[in-house]
Amino acid sequence: MTLLLAFLCQFLSVCITFLVANWLPIFHNSIVFLVMQSGLAMTFSFLLHQRNWWIPIHLLFLPSIFIFSTFAIPAWFYLLLVVIFTLVFWGTIRGDVPLFLSSSGVAEMVISLLKKENAKTFADLGAGVGTVAIPVANCLSEIKVDAWERAPFPWLIGKLRGRFLSNYQTTRGNFFTANFEKYDVVFTFLSPLVMPEISTKIKREMRSGTLFISSSFPVTNWQPENIFYLNDRRKTVLFCYRLP
Ligand SMILES: C[S@@+](CC[C@H](N)C(=O)[O-])C[C@H]1O[C@@H](n2cnc3c(N)ncnc32)[C@H](O)[C@@H]1O
Repeated sequence: MTLLLAFLCQFLSVCITFLVANWLPIFHNSIVFLVMQSGLAMTFSFLLHQRNWWIPIHLLFLPSIFIFSTFAIPAWFYLLLVVIFTLVFWGTIRGDVPLFLSSSGVAEMVISLLKKENAKTFADLGAGVGTVAIPVANCLSEIKVDAWERAPFPWLIGKLRGRFLSNYQTTRGNFFTANFEKYDVVFTFLSPLVMPEISTKIKREMRSGTLFISSSFPVTNWQPENIFYLNDRRKTVLFCYRLP
């Protein structure tokens, strides 16, 4: 469905731009054509409520095709791009959570919550490049930090970044295969789509009295113990749930 909507945005914007170019010769200029097509594709994406990260994709899609077909770019370059994007975004094409990074403000808030909780074990489910897990492990050497990440490239970066931290471990794999029972605090920054599934697992496996922190996405029908509004670029909201 996600891909179908993206295709629709591109298809409609190309058709409309061609129609307009029929009437207005200024659109025969490639740059003007591309600006209008990308602008329309982004607008359709917005109107069809696609996720925000589709906006830059729509912006760059046709201009990239234009650049790649105009200049003699060697074939291996395309393969390289596909490989890099696949390794970074992994399951995103199936609608999985893409890689977005938390701000340093989020990491600082998580650190202060972990201190308050006197936590001994912490997991970041979908840790990306370790934006939260690495500062936590760095700052709180007494806490054992587990970073779960499925996409190979972010996982590798996270592993390299944390190579000297003895209390930090990163696992390349699906966090749904993990057991959350051992964690005092679990942090996620995922998507509304996975919140029902992850919250069911959290409720089943986390011990009573432990803390679940969800960045940006609340769990429907759960009452947060605290909500923190951060003053970072994304105006992140942290929802904190105490397990009953
Ligand atoms: C929005 S990013 C958050 C990165 C990091 N936690 C942060 O706050 O900066 C979500 C990450 O979760 C990963 N992810 C999504 N589903 C996953 C799963 N089932 N198992 C492991 N990682 C997953 C994605 O690959 C992506 O890197």
